[in-house]
Amino acid sequence: MKNNIFLIGTHWGDEGKGKVVDVLSENANACIRFQGGHNAGHTLVINDKKFILHLIPSGILRDNVKSVVGNGVVVSLDALITEITELEENGISLSNKLFISENCHLILPTHIALDQARERKLGKKSIGTTGRGIGPSYEDKISRKGIRLLDLKNETIFLKKLDSLMEYHNFILENYFKTKCIDTNSVARELLEKYHKISKYIIDTDEYINDLCKQGGVVFEGAQGTMLDVDHGTFPYVTSSNTTLSGVVSGTGANMSLIKYGLGITKAYSTRVGHGPFPSELHNDIGQKIGKIGGEIGATTGRTRRCGWLDLKVLKKSIRLNNLSGIALTKIDVLDNFDEISICVDYGSINYETFEVENLKFIKLPGWNESTVGITKYDDLPKNAKAYIEAIENLADISVDIISTGPARNEIIQKINIFDA
Ligand code: GDP
Ligand code: IMO
Ligand code: MG
Repeated sequence: MKNNIFLIGTHWGDEGKGKVVDVLSENANACIRFQGGHNAGHTLVINDKKFILHLIPSGILRDNVKSVVGNGVVVSLDALITEITELEENGISLSNKLFISENCHLILPTHIALDQARERKLGKKSIGTTGRGIGPSYEDKISRKGIRLLDLKNETIFLKKLDSLMEYHNFILENYFKTKCIDTNSVARELLEKYHKISKYIIDTDEYINDLCKQGGVVFEGAQGTMLDVDHGTFPYVTSSNTTLSGVVSGTGANMSLIKYGLGITKAYSTRVGHGPFPSELHNDIGQKIGKIGGEIGATTGRTRRCGWLDLKVLKKSIRLNNLSGIALTKIDVLDNFDEISICVDYGSINYETFEVENLKFIKLPGWNESTVGITKYDDLPKNAKAYIEAIENLADISVDIISTGPARNEIIQKINIFDA
């Protein structure tokens, strides 16, 4: 049986998870999202065409793959329908391929309004959220007020729940944030209409997911990254879900003993979008050069991503927290034209007011000044590129099993087949 695999971003998101999931999906049977929502933006490049997926698993472009949105994901019906429509317009069939858990919590227009109002009120201290209502939706889940997809099955129950929840949201919007209320009747009408368009995809997923795991070849696709985890990340500058290993289990109901291999997705340098500490950030022309070559513009919000050298301390933490078996090192080609490349190996405490970091330590390695774009065999990499990869393996005590050498599907080195590892 093929291994079931979970795949998690090791840093602050945007490590290239979508690309790697798309590559692995060629040999997968299913691809499952377990947390987050349409704050994610996973980019796939196939025959020069770019697809950005926010909510639907990145395996959806493959006919052989079942795509499941697990119970841990928060769902905006607007975002879901937009994405389904785009895929269908591109000739991608979803019937008998897409399955969404009935236990997923909804993102309401008031969640979006609350997210944005809160950010405005925080001013300079804002989190820099994607403004998609993610945090407020998870808050309502944890405080047991939230509305799930299954609630939409029964119109009477749904309207009762929506009325009471939106009354509460509108009270806060009006009296605390001094902003406009949202009309409950029109939200109800729109949600019911949208629900009917997508209800055919909704099922009770936990049994289905465990059956898929028993067959093997399942890829659990993380969104965001380890340092955005609400428990283990750079709190409060995090997202509102468990982006780490525990999210795989709680967000799907999968039996962990059936999941054999954990793949960390690590970018060859580090980036962060949104506010919060970023120890290895480069506030100079090297940071700008990395961002420019790497095209580091957010796939969801279009914001410029902050860039820095690879943060190895974070990588080690991520390996530990997620019990990773190996990593996929992505965007190595972005470092092709640097005389010297640094790795941030350690630092002391982080000041969460100023984001200053004590005792930053770097090691320097020589660059390779040669193109790695599109290389598919490890032995074909320049000597210094191999030395960079091997330095990461030695310092973090992990094997780099996959190396991505460009945004396209075929630009990849797979040192081993992780479905057999
Ligand atoms: P995700 O959120 O982790 O899926 O990552 P994003 O899609 O938000 O950001 C990764 C970006 O890097 C996308 O634009 C990808 O097309 C691109 N990308 C992925 N892998 C590589 C690679 O190996 N080299 C280069 N140059 N670009 C890559
Ligand atoms: P993918 O899956 C990078 C960041 C936001 C903000 C913080 C909280 O593409 O890697 P939220 O809207 O979730 O409440 O915002 O988390 N963030 C991401 N950063 N990649 C993502 O997803 C992100 N999703 C959220 O920028 O700092
Ligand atoms: Mg992204």
